[in-house]
Amino acid sequence: MSYKRILLGCALVLVLALALSGCAAPAATQAPAPTTAPEATQAPEATQAPAAATGNDKLEVFSWWTSGGEAAALDSLFATFKTLSPATEIINATVAGGGGSAARGVLQTRLAGGDPPDTWQFHPGFELLGQYVAANYVEPITDLYASEKWNDVMPKGLVDLMTKDGQIYGVLAGVHRGNGLWYNKKLVEKAGVTVGATMTPDEFLAAAAKLKAAGITPLCVGDSGIWASAQLFENTLLGVIGPEKYAGLWDGSTSFADPDVKKAMETYGKMLAYQNDDHSALSWDQAVKKLMEGGCAFSSMGDWAYGEFVNAKMKDNVDFGWVSHPGTAGSFMIVADGFGLANKAPHPEQTKNWLRAIGSKAGQEAFNPLKGSIPARTDVDRAKFGVYHNWSMDSFAKDALVPSVVHGSAAPADFQQAFNDGVTSFVVDKNVDAFSAALVAAAKASGFGK
Ligand code: BGC
Repeated sequence: MSYKRILLGCALVLVLALALSGCAAPAATQAPAPTTAPEATQAPEATQAPAAATGNDKLEVFSWWTSGGEAAALDSLFATFKTLSPATEIINATVAGGGGSAARGVLQTRLAGGDPPDTWQFHPGFELLGQYVAANYVEPITDLYASEKWNDVMPKGLVDLMTKDGQIYGVLAGVHRGNGLWYNKKLVEKAGVTVGATMTPDEFLAAAAKLKAAGITPLCVGDSGIWASAQLFENTLLGVIGPEKYAGLWDGSTSFADPDVKKAMETYGKMLAYQNDDHSALSWDQAVKKLMEGGCAFSSMGDWAYGEFVNAKMKDNVDFGWVSHPGTAGSFMIVADGFGLANKAPHPEQTKNWLRAIGSKAGQEAFNPLKGSIPARTDVDRAKFGVYHNWSMDSFAKDALVPSVVHGSAAPADFQQAFNDGVTSFVVDKNVDAFSAALVAAAKASGFGK
């Protein structure tokens, strides 16, 4: 899939969102009743035999949602699912590691070995279509889109990222904004740093210098999984080169050797000089916790960070603040979370109810306030969402929508890996030319670079 197609899809998202906002047709206010009979209600005792053979009433959900905020949000989806499948036992199969850094490998081993969970977390775009649809690991759920009337409420541009040959392979639980810069309000104020409605990279570097002079660690990074630092770079890349050039990276019309790309690498290198010493010992959520506790001032992270603030009962614009990652105001980096139906799922009927729950208005209104993402559905009640979510919904409606490479949507898996590897080297050697050359070669090898 070329980035142009994503851009086209994104344009449609915008058109659709606008069209739907003026649409009076009310959506179902309650989660739909299951349309299929539940499987055997008397589950046998646990047994070594495969679940499918016993016909037992279970559902295995595979994800990497293990941080406090992520787990709370996942629980809310389970609660919605229980309204449709009260007797089903949920097997919550999680593999810790933000961004799916550890989970995706475990999942691939299971899929290749013919032992799929019923359903698993994926990112739309290359991750879903390249890794799971192409390998025939997932079944289409196009019929659910018809029966649940999702085509009326899910932005076509997003659904297109889950569609191949006219068949749809997933439903989105929510859409994260990847380009957030979060900050500890009290700490920043203490250092006399003012954060406005937007921030440029130079303003960030000036604020960081001021914080450092005041004895405060300016930037919290938790890159025990390198993806978190790769995301800091991805956001900085978008912030320095802008959404048009960033879009061009994925169809080869912008080169990774472009002078602006190199400038972004230099800026990223300057930012790294302000990060916490213990960054490689921390996970992303531990870095956010450090920020909450006053151990550092800023953290660049997708708005799953918001879920951590909510989970810690912190208040928007009181205990913490946010601004778009430096230079990225006007862009929305899409990091969406979807689920699908495994090919030969052990419990297909329960899985369909799981997908119904995820795509329902009730499910999306329960899940997203806890997760930090905005609902994929366009018919939700905005009053049920707080300050941050309304801000992010506005951004989604009017800003340039761009895909994340770190979170699997923008480019194939081999390039995603090369991107992480390039960051791993750059963090150590700060060699802009080598970083640029590595990405040029990787983009060519992956088939989209020129
Ligand atoms: C997922 C989010 C998740 C984050 C950190 C992203 O790839 O889309 O749902 O919270 O990783 O684990």
